[in-house]
Amino acid sequence: MSDTAENDVPITVLIVDDEELLVKSCGQILSSEGYSVHTEGRGRNALDFVRRQRPDIVLTDLMLPDMDGLALLKEIKKLAPETLVVMITGFATVDSSVEAIRAGAYDYIPKPFTATQLRILIGRAAQQVKLVRDNASLRDQLKKHYSFDNIIGTSDSIQKVFSVVSRVAPTEASVFISGESGTGKELIARALHANSRRSARPFTAINCAALPDNLLETELFGHEKGAFTSADRERRGLLELAAGGTFFMDEISEMSMELQAKLLRVIQERKIRRVGGGEEIPIDVRWVSATNRDPDQAVRDGHLRQDLLYRLNVVPVKLPPLRNRREDIPALAQHFLRRYAQEYDRDNLRFSSESMRVLVEYEWPGNVRELQNVVERIVSMCLPGQEIFPEDMPEELSMRRAPNGKAGAVAAFSSDLPFHDAKNDAISIFEKQYLSDLLDRHNGNISQAARNAGIDRKTIHRMLAKYEIEGRD
Ligand SMILES: Nc1ncnc2c1ncn2[C@@H]1O[C@H](COP(=O)(O)OP(=O)(O)OP(=O)(O)O)[C@@H](O)[C@H]1O
Ligand SMILES: [Mg+2]
Repeated sequence: MSDTAENDVPITVLIVDDEELLVKSCGQILSSEGYSVHTEGRGRNALDFVRRQRPDIVLTDLMLPDMDGLALLKEIKKLAPETLVVMITGFATVDSSVEAIRAGAYDYIPKPFTATQLRILIGRAAQQVKLVRDNASLRDQLKKHYSFDNIIGTSDSIQKVFSVVSRVAPTEASVFISGESGTGKELIARALHANSRRSARPFTAINCAALPDNLLETELFGHEKGAFTSADRERRGLLELAAGGTFFMDEISEMSMELQAKLLRVIQERKIRRVGGGEEIPIDVRWVSATNRDPDQAVRDGHLRQDLLYRLNVVPVKLPPLRNRREDIPALAQHFLRRYAQEYDRDNLRFSSESMRVLVEYEWPGNVRELQNVVERIVSMCLPGQEIFPEDMPEELSMRRAPNGKAGAVAAFSSDLPFHDAKNDAISIFEKQYLSDLLDRHNGNISQAARNAGIDRKTIHRMLAKYEIEGRD
């Protein structure tokens, strides 16, 4: 079998049957195909083998001397969910085959079968095993090469970002990063630079929202002596100083349309003119920009020139809000906990499982930055060695304020319950009430409701499912 030959680790197949003849001939067929074959006659022994060796594929009879093949299948799925199980069904009864598939079998093969049928079926399963293996090793490679040291996140959505970033970093392509405030735009911009061929040259960042237009212009392009009253000597602009490096323009959509037009020319011509100067100065930078608006919307709203976006947006990178990748929260929280525990000299701090749950369930409107600030605040108030409970954390994490006039909704909890249960009930009551009011106001239109409430559509969908409320998209 050429597929396994290409792959260093052979695919292992466990055959389970008490019919010695069948086991022997299947074993021979599959061994000659390059599989590593092991055989067992009894279900119990097969389970032991699965526990120890985690074979890629199990081929088992539906009828075993000591146990039902279906029961074996279910046990295997518990022990090794990734193992593919193929059932040999006795009398080609439709019922048992259907039942096997339903119980998680990869496929079934009715007795009697030919060598070719067996080869094809196991070949297909092996293909599947290989796919999973390739995916895993691809992910490993990405992690090894581009784990960008301090950038945390294993969720699919952030891993997709990392994979784009790692592929585009070594190129000269302009990257346009969008994402809500605190999602890590600057961090990604720096990672792009650190992993580029320009990494030995400067990373220069400018926040376009921080300066009025005229100052921003002189910051970018510099000025000649006497260009304006206070210009008592010439000054080089950041674009000149950034030569050979990466130029990061943060909050690009806050720049005036006039300056955006000038910037567009600079990008196209790769030359600048200092304010008050005539000479053209060549520049050499790689462009990375960011905004916390939706870029297309910013164009529609007249905050961003379409032609400039077109230039800067060769590779778009969208950073997902933290609430849409909650699985990253524990690792991020631990990361910041370690960091601030060291900074504040507080050894051995740990989150209780309950407080971790609070962190995971909070909405994080300020995203990773908010999480970071919250952890710092917590650490600064802790004693060394302390286990952190929800009571040690800022109140707003556990309790979101009820909308005006609905305070009664949150008050409707029972103090008979333990504190955390009561709190969770109150939160559920609040969320449910908030959501149904919100949807009422928007006639059930989820997109509109999401925009209005400042939450993501996915969050609404999740809550709708949780509380079994109807809405429409
Ligand atoms: N995946 C991550 N792993 C570790 N730290 C992160 C991650 N994402 C963000 N941070 C940290 O969160 C903070 C905010 O990130 P950053 O400044 O890059 O966000 P931003 O999107 O530029 O925010 P803003 O729009 O407010 O400028 C930084 O301290 C950054 O180091
Ligand atoms: Mg930023």
